[in-house]
Amino acid sequence: MIELRELGPGDEEALLRIYSAESTRHLGRAPMDADEARYRLRDIMAAAAQSPRTLYVLGLAVDGHLLGVVKLHHDRPVAAVSYILRADTWGRGYATKGVRGLLALAFGHLGLPEVRAKHRTDNPASGRVLRKTGFIPTGERAGFKTYALRSTDLGHERQRHPPGGEPATAIGNRLSTAGRSPTLV
Ligand SMILES: CC(C)(COP(=O)(O)OP(=O)(O)OC[C@H]1O[C@@H](n2cnc3c(N)ncnc32)[C@H](O)[C@@H]1OP(=O)(O)O)[C@@H](O)C(=O)NCCC(=O)NCCS
Repeated sequence: MIELRELGPGDEEALLRIYSAESTRHLGRAPMDADEARYRLRDIMAAAAQSPRTLYVLGLAVDGHLLGVVKLHHDRPVAAVSYILRADTWGRGYATKGVRGLLALAFGHLGLPEVRAKHRTDNPASGRVLRKTGFIPTGERAGFKTYALRSTDLGHERQRHPPGGEPATAIGNRLSTAGRSPTLV
């Protein structure tokens, strides 16, 4: 079973494996070390407790094993998604399912009108994930290919959840990506 869940204490080791040299070279950042894993988790948990919540950093777990991280930032004019998978799990469709789950959160629960994404021009696998999940290429800028996806492109009607109407921590736990079109369950 594939699910998106909140990150928390005890996820440090899994994060180190996800943010390895092989994966992070596509992000233009250094691999994670143990200190960074600790403070990132602290920041992620603090962001999850904010209300209103504007940053979702969720773990992608397969059969209970944390294999990736997907992010939705909506503290900017247009929300953005990003993702990273543990390198030894690439090519199994996990990122695609994770992004679909994140889009269900963005367009369903949060009622966002549009989400954007980008990847380095030398990272075609990431572009493939975005196209498979419905993103439309919008151009190229400063070494990145850019993409956008509107809720209406996927047939979602805008319906924002009332602020504070539901604890943020419940969202990731209820987000199932087991099917082809993940929904909040
Ligand atoms: C990009 C990334 C998330 C993809 O994860 P994944 O779980 O392997 O993705 P999926 O299996 O869902 O889909 C990958 C698709 O890319 C395709 N692909 C892989 N390598 C490719 C390449 N060199 N050229 C073109 N397509 C490629 C796969 O065939 C697959 O498409 P398909 O289903 O049509 O066959 C993963 O490689 C990763 O974590 N990379 C490092 C971090 C990163 O780049 N994040 C994105 C930053 S914007």
